[in-house]
Amino acid sequence: MKRTKIIDLFAAEMIGKEVSVKGWVRTRRGNKHVQFVALNDGSTIRNIQIVFDLSKFDEEQLKGVSTGSSIHVEGKLVESMGKGQTCEIQADSLEIYGGADPEKYPLQKKGHTLEFLREIAHLRPRTNTFGAVLRVRSALAYAIHKFFQERGFYYLHTPLITASDCEGAGAMFQVTTLNLEDLPRTEEGKVDYTQDFFGKTTALTVSGQLEGELGATALGAIYTFGPTFRAENSNTPRHLAEFWMIEPEVAFNDITDNMELAEDFIKYCIKYALDNCRDDIEFLNEMYDKELIGRLESVLKSDFVRLSYTEGVKILEESGKKFEFPVYWGADLQSEHERYLVEEHFKRPVILTDYPKEIKAFYMKQNEDGKTVRAMDVLFPKIGEIIGGSEREESYDKLMQRIEELNIPMKDMWWYLDTRRFGTVPHSGFGLGFERLVLFVTGMTNIRDVIPFPRTPGNAEF
Ligand code: 4AD
Ligand code: MG
Repeated sequence: MKRTKIIDLFAAEMIGKEVSVKGWVRTRRGNKHVQFVALNDGSTIRNIQIVFDLSKFDEEQLKGVSTGSSIHVEGKLVESMGKGQTCEIQADSLEIYGGADPEKYPLQKKGHTLEFLREIAHLRPRTNTFGAVLRVRSALAYAIHKFFQERGFYYLHTPLITASDCEGAGAMFQVTTLNLEDLPRTEEGKVDYTQDFFGKTTALTVSGQLEGELGATALGAIYTFGPTFRAENSNTPRHLAEFWMIEPEVAFNDITDNMELAEDFIKYCIKYALDNCRDDIEFLNEMYDKELIGRLESVLKSDFVRLSYTEGVKILEESGKKFEFPVYWGADLQSEHERYLVEEHFKRPVILTDYPKEIKAFYMKQNEDGKTVRAMDVLFPKIGEIIGGSEREESYDKLMQRIEELNIPMKDMWWYLDTRRFGTVPHSGFGLGFERLVLFVTGMTNIRDVIPFPRTPGNAEF
């Protein structure tokens, strides 16, 4: 008999049919006459109840059906008398694929802390919580492609190994095949990278934007969606060393178009998850954050505030609130400042623009005032910065001037400057941190719990 996924059993027309199901046992309980097994196969947060009539099954055989074991059951799907479920399977046959020793399997029925589950990240996808989070994550990834594809953006694959540092932050993971125990040296005693794999120093990318700009100034509108690496030693609930970023880049868009795109995009993703992951989001709402669904719906309904950095700093200074980090014009805003503006002052998402040029990257378009650049950060409740972007400096001379001021080594960037030398156009883009979006939509509070296998300082297990 062909296997039916558990999610498909709950369709009304299935009642009365003979079915075959396969999955992992969540629990088994019962008595000498009848045993009840809750089975999950990952297709939905819902378990199917399987009823074993002990006049038809050997008690010894059922002992192998313990939490975590994998089984195949065939039987009839009937309406259920039990509370909390609509249907159940009356088992006719049982096959055990693999047992799970109750003494050793770490995911017994009792609730586990998220901290403990991080230590067994190889098994945590089998819990309700991580099943829900990972299904939502997958749906959001699909929504992202759908949003851009429906609007004529092309998916551009930018390199993961690069010789340039897009954000100028200097926190990159070096990539080398040199023997670290026996490094080749130049005559001056420096490491001789001409002998390295690429003939120069390379690292994992911190952003696909610079190559994204090459794509946008040819294809018109592109987006990237891939892994990104940052070697900053920040152990916070919002930073990963390896995270996924989505970076749209659009020729002829100015910063206003860019803000509209960002707002439409993020609302589309949230709505997609609410429409397509209802069971999972309801579970997370119930278990972790009773305000989750309300918050998601409120963001969908609200127009994002648009405010300059200068006005934002003024509000923060006049708030009378004691912040851990001082706030003044020129300061890089911390998550506490961003969240004050969003959660306490405006009570809706805020797009902050026109930041001081000193705290933003070299490629941003310079404003007339000579002090600020056309940057935009989208700030979200509970998260702080979820998107960072800007209109780009399209003038070759102004860009060069900024690069010289900042002493950025241009040897490896000649190709980027060519966008400004040949047919330069106004253009804009932004980067959305995928895990921060998943955090927001699932209501989880630690970024380590929204990616299957987190990479953070000191941790590369699994
Ligand atoms: O603000 P960031 O650094 O911007 C860029 O990289 C630009 N090149 C984007 C662009 O304009 N195309 O990063 C963008 C977003 C942040 O707003 C944040 O959501 C996320 O990426 N992010 C991180 N997420 C998890 N862990 C980290 N260490 C992150 N660093 C940035
Ligand atoms: Mg940023």
